[in-house]
Amino acid sequence: MRVLIVGGGGREHALAWKLSQSAEVEKIYCAPGNAGIAAVAECVPIEGEDIEKLQEFAREKELHLTVVGPEAPLMEGIVDVFQEKGQLIFGPGKLGARLEGSKAWAKELMHRHGLPTPGFEVFESPQEAYEYLRNASYPLVVKADGLAAGKGVTVAEDYFQAAGAVKASMEERIFGSAGNMIVIEECIQGEEVSVFALTDGSSYLLFPSAQDHKPVYDGDRGPNTGGMGCYSPAPILTPPLQEQVCRAILDPLLDALRMEEIDYRGIIYGGLMVTEEGPQVLEFNVRFGDPEAQVLLPRLETDLFPLLYEAARGNLGAISQPRWSGDAAVCVVLASGGYPGSYEKGKEIHGLDQVSGEEKAVIFHAGTALRNGKVITSGGRVLGATAWDPSLQKAVQKAYSLAERISFEDMHYRRDIAHRALSRGV
Ligand code: GLY
Repeated sequence: MRVLIVGGGGREHALAWKLSQSAEVEKIYCAPGNAGIAAVAECVPIEGEDIEKLQEFAREKELHLTVVGPEAPLMEGIVDVFQEKGQLIFGPGKLGARLEGSKAWAKELMHRHGLPTPGFEVFESPQEAYEYLRNASYPLVVKADGLAAGKGVTVAEDYFQAAGAVKASMEERIFGSAGNMIVIEECIQGEEVSVFALTDGSSYLLFPSAQDHKPVYDGDRGPNTGGMGCYSPAPILTPPLQEQVCRAILDPLLDALRMEEIDYRGIIYGGLMVTEEGPQVLEFNVRFGDPEAQVLLPRLETDLFPLLYEAARGNLGAISQPRWSGDAAVCVVLASGGYPGSYEKGKEIHGLDQVSGEEKAVIFHAGTALRNGKVITSGGRVLGATAWDPSLQKAVQKAYSLAERISFEDMHYRRDIAHRALSRGV
């Protein structure tokens, strides 16, 4: 089978790495890929948003499956275009991608179908939003409706912070059209956990849980990033809670999508808050998490290809249950100086040769490129130092031992990945 992966970050490296181990996959292309992906796939210089070129490429190479990594091409309708041409592609179509692409649409869907999610109001006019904020109780959460590169959510402690977020989004338009509409949401307390379900539109398979670390600094301080590291499984999601997630969230969500005539095939990624009253949905995403994919896929002992292929074909019933290792996996993200703010690119990365070939460990490339045969930085999140072991503590130690052997100018990373699980004595 010949497969194209769309994207070029750590998630896509993890997908390419795992698919390269498949007995069924003979050739992997990745568009555009990165320096690490180039070791397991042929990188082609086409960006994810160039849907027409990607579709032409898939046709020319007579590919059997295209797997979409990031959300933007899904929202742009890459799946609909491929399907119109009869080409198999993994991911939801444009209608389903609104689960991530429009917070207001997703919240209203959840509300209509009784999924547990914090109370909310949707605003299309800043004046109405300010009016609401004057009488609201704090803290509360202000969210831009559309995609805002992980920066569209503000937890506001008082009216001034909330009104500032509304102004920035709706009047200063810092997120462009993504911030024309906003959701103002109740702020709930608890611990966050990510859940992943693979669906073919009628049934689903629950993947193991993970916990991401979004703030840039240790102790969950500083601005949010795309994720500075994560681990899987997340012990906060106990088996009874997992059962509750299926019964109260995933089952009704799948029913809701069917009732709304949305044929959703791909990954449903639930960002949940575990509260005293049970799990609540903070948001849905429509693709694998990043860096979550970097800890999930190493734990998959069986072949990834049939899972993606049969989900895309609407035929998950044809495959046997995937097997997951009991190991805990940990990923520490090595980031460019300045990230998540502005940062320089083009720094040479040292030490990659010293960590290759380690057992139960891999360095996933997120923002790297090749220049004159050298690997250089080309993004904010540069590498994911990933390790797994039956003991979470040992997996953490190993991931940090990989991180310590790698260097580039101004590199930084969090030192407390998995702290919540470790403090529970896992
Ligand atoms: N790690 C967060 C995300 O993938 O959205």
